[in-house]
Formats: sequence, C-alpha cells, structure tokens
Amino acid sequence: MSDEIKVPRGLANVVVDSTAIATTGSTGNLLYRGYRAVDLADRKSFEDVAYLIVYGKLPDEAELKAFRNKLFSNMVLDDDTKRIMDILKEKDIMRNLRSITSLIKYRNGDFNEMFIQMEAKLPLIAAYSAHAAYGEHLREPEGEYFAEKFFSLIASPEKKKYWKSLEKLMILYMEHEFNASTFALRVAASTLTDPVSAVTAAMATLKGPLHGGANSEVLSYLSGIKNEEDARNFVEEKLAKKEKIMGFGHRVYKKKDPRAQYVKEELRKIAHDDPKFIAAELVENYMFEKKGLPANVDLFAAVLMDFLGIKEIYNLPVFACSRIFGWNAHYIEQVENNKLIRPAAEYTGPEERDL
Ligand code: SDX
Repeated sequence: MSDEIKVPRGLANVVVDSTAIATTGSTGNLLYRGYRAVDLADRKSFEDVAYLIVYGKLPDEAELKAFRNKLFSNMVLDDDTKRIMDILKEKDIMRNLRSITSLIKYRNGDFNEMFIQMEAKLPLIAAYSAHAAYGEHLREPEGEYFAEKFFSLIASPEKKKYWKSLEKLMILYMEHEFNASTFALRVAASTLTDPVSAVTAAMATLKGPLHGGANSEVLSYLSGIKNEEDARNFVEEKLAKKEKIMGFGHRVYKKKDPRAQYVKEELRKIAHDDPKFIAAELVENYMFEKKGLPANVDLFAAVLMDFLGIKEIYNLPVFACSRIFGWNAHYIEQVENNKLIRPAAEYTGPEERDL
C-alpha cells in the first residue's frame, strides 16, 4: 500500500512510540522520570525508585511506608506454588520464573493487585526454584528493605555488609525504555491482555542471550583470563571466529553504558583486587581499543553478583526481579493511551497463484 513506511531491520533507531518513564537518550545519561539513574542509585532506596518508575513520582514518607507494607505483606509463596516447583525441579531458574509467574493467583481484573503480586513474589519464586532444583538452603527474607531481603535469599551471608551494592545494581537494572523485553510487553499490552500475560511475554524475551541471557556467560570467560595477554588472545580469538562476546555492545549505547561504568566504580570500591574484576577491565579496555565496543551493564553486573556470592543461576533472575517494575510501568502507560501494535510486512513469497 502507498502509505507504508520501510524502516531498518530490528527497528534500529526507529521511534515507534513515546514514553515518559525513562530515556537512554540524548545526554548519554539514563534518566528515570527525568532523574539520572546513577544519582538515584547513589541516594535512594530500591523502593523509592520502584515507586517513581511505576507511579511517576518519588514517594513521600507515608507513601513509601504503605508501598513497603504492600510489597512485604505479599512476599510469601502458597503451598501449591511450592509443590509445583518441587515437582518441576526446573534447573533453568528464568524458565521457572516465566512459568510460575504466569500461575500467580490474583483477583480477576484487579491489575494493581497483579502488579504487586508479581513485584513481591518474583524474588521468592527465584529463590525457591533454586531450592527445589539444586537443593539450595531455603532462607526466609530478612531485613528491613526490599533489596536487603532479596540479598538474604540469594547471596552469601558473609557478604551481608555489601547488600547495598546489590540494591544499586537492581536500581540500574530496573528500567531501560524500549528494550526488547519491554517492547514485547507493550505489544502484548496493546492487545489489552492482562499484566501477568504481558509480563510472561517479556520474560520469554528477556531470556534470550542477545538481551538478558548474556550475564551468565560472562563469568565463564573471565575466569580464564589472568593477564593482559590472555585478554587480548581471548578477544582476538572470538572476533576471528565472528563470535559475540557477552557483556559488550549495545543497540543504543555506542560509546559507554552509564550503568556499566557505575557498577565498575562500585566494584573498585569494594573488590578492587577481585581477579574477575581485574579481568573484566582488561577485556573492556581491549574490546574498546580493538572494536570500539563499550562494555554493557551485564559485564560488571556479573562480576558484582559473583563477588556477593550470588550464584550465576540467579544472574538473569536478578535482572527480571528488578525489571518487573519497569515492565509494570510500561503496561500502565501502554493501556492508558492504547493503539494496537501491528506493523506491516514486505511480502517476498510467491505471487498469487491458483491451487
Ligand atoms: C541488554 O536494549 C537494551 O536496553 C538492553 C539492555 C536493557 O537494559 O534492557 O541494556 C540489557 O540486553 C544489554 C546487552 C546484553 N547482551 C549482550 O551482551 C550480548 C552481546 N551483545 C550483542 O549481541 C550486541 O551488542 C547487541 C545485540 C546487544 C546489540 O547489537 P546490535 O545493535 O544489533 O549491533 P550488531 O549486532 O549489528 O553489531 C554491530 C557490530 C557487528 O560487527 P560488524 O558485523 O559490523 O563487523 O558490532 C559487532 C557485530 O558483530 N558486535 C559485537 C558484539 N556486539 C556487536 N562483536 C563482538 N561481541 C559483541 N558483543
């Protein structure tokens, strides 16, 4: 048809809609409702930022208290859900998150309840999955804050004093404009399906290695890098084989990912002599020198979680337990001013013919 518009594959640099939630935009800073995400990570709690992302403003004391109460009072799994995970013993925690989230019970039609149920229960589903599949010791969420409770479920108790480093990472993982999983969620939401179904679509998308699935591969290659020569050889080998190096490159950040830089500096403060941190910087320097590709958030996120004693099986689940707040915000924004997302296609099949 004459009014069709051809756009680059992958929708690279194509503005498909507007959003007031976040931008990776023009200043090179990731902004959450206008505030720099790194400033929020420095000075606000996870719950403050989650409230800002979902409801559009930073909470006052009473709003924060009520939000915490709603989240924490729903941080419990019913026996049926646990029994299903005991039967499934699914070792791929992200696959379990996707499946079990879609079973979360809620009163039909109450979207706000669905948001809270998912936000509160994802950390527990992740932790219980590991218990059911790997026999991980089951702990109760401890602490006063969301990230502190999540830390107590999945990280090493010896590293407890660093729980705020996990909180900062989770704030930076929370929202990222029209990334693939969020866009998948918006396509689903545009059909007016319910939030739990839309989040299931987002989780299925996040699971892909080009999107969220990258951070668990990072650790395996970093452990083999002991010095600059190892780093150079590793990068040269991968590039020669035209293979992607996980934790590098980004559709939007062509010079630097501000989140990666923030997490790197957090690591320099608490783990400057960690061998994987040193290896990550060596690879980062050579990748930028050789290919001009910046590290993305996943490179240093993987090193930080490893340092905190968080097993790599949790890497992607940590991302999802944080991004659920961004996904919920995008669900609300999409349906508030909805238009079914249904693009056109250029047909390259056989001409019309009789059967
Ligand atoms: C996240 O979009 C988001 O916002 C996502 C995210 C979020 O918060 O939601 O930021 C989270 O997904 C971070 C990215 C995690 N993924 C990885 O680390 C996987 C490795 N990265 C690549 O697969 C890649 O960089 C993408 C998919 C992230 C972006 O790819 P693009 O924009 O489609 O670019 P491209 O694949 O066309 O690459 C351009 C060039 C190519 O070289 P040439 O063919 O032109 O010679 O750069 C090369 C690519 O081969 N390249 C890489 C590379 N990434 C790109 N080469 C080696 N290793 C890499 N990682």
